Amino acid sequence: MGTYYREVGNELDVFKKCFENQMPLLIKGPTGCGKSQLVGAMAERLDRPLIKVACNEDTTSSDLLGRFLIKGSETVWQDGPVARAVREGAILYLDEVAEAREDVIVALHPLTDHRRQLYLDRTNEELTAPPGFMCVASFNPGYQKGFKELKPSTRQRFVTLSLGYPPPEIETEVLHKMTGMELKTCSKLVHLAQKIRSQKHLDLQETVSTRLLVHAAQLAKSGLPLRSSCVYGIAQCLSDDPQVVEGLQDLINLSL
Ligand SMILES: Nc1ncnc2c1ncn2[C@@H]1O[C@H](COP(=O)(O)OP(=O)(O)OP(=O)(O)O)[C@@H](O)[C@H]1O
Ligand SMILES: [Mg+2]
Repeated sequence: MGTYYREVGNELDVFKKCFENQMPLLIKGPTGCGKSQLVGAMAERLDRPLIKVACNEDTTSSDLLGRFLIKGSETVWQDGPVARAVREGAILYLDEVAEAREDVIVALHPLTDHRRQLYLDRTNEELTAPPGFMCVASFNPGYQKGFKELKPSTRQRFVTLSLGYPPPEIETEVLHKMTGMELKTCSKLVHLAQKIRSQKHLDLQETVSTRLLVHAAQLAKSGLPLRSSCVYGIAQCLSDDPQVVEGLQDLINLSL
């Protein structure tokens, strides 16, 4: 069975159209809202290999493009994930692209516009991406800590999808499909999430995601009492401040 993705708007079609038109796609949204799930599901539907790269501030262009390695008495070139994706005509998924240094991102500019080219300066090779290649990037615009923006010249190369947590009926369905937990309980968890999400005064860095709800449902499905599942799967993951955790526990006790 393929990777499950429940469409909320028309994101499957937008993704497909980008692929067909050889356009790069940026998916923005908070942590745990389904960005990676969407990319995984679409790579399967489009029958392309998926190559994921987790970007961070230490990511160098050699990490992405490739490097010479010493093997015995010779040096051999080894493609990095971006070069490999271009050669294979894969879907390249740059996760948390805003975390990468600017010079690293700029090196990908010719790949993410009409040129679809990647220049490997170390081997002096210019690769042109085949039709099967697609660049997908994700970023989380919400992070306050080490807040990072993408420059307009990068942003405007990408068609952009904005994902959020699914509406309640769909989020309930997602929990049920992902964990096999009965719908009634899934619905309670989503209800709890809505309460937590509306408590702005809790001052959480990020609020409860679909991912955390999946975790709680999974724990409960495997036999942990529902309230404990929510304490360990949700409350403790959202804050390290004992008072905030206690506030979350109160909400859990009230809703379940
Ligand atoms: N529309 C959806 N269809 C199927 N699963 C979903 C959907 N939305 C959320 N999920 C589920 O939520 C969980 C988290 O999703 P995912 O890992 O894709 O998050 P993400 O947006 O990539 O987060 P991060 O930014 O932290 O990488 C997964 O279990 C996924 O199955
Ligand atoms: Mg992800």
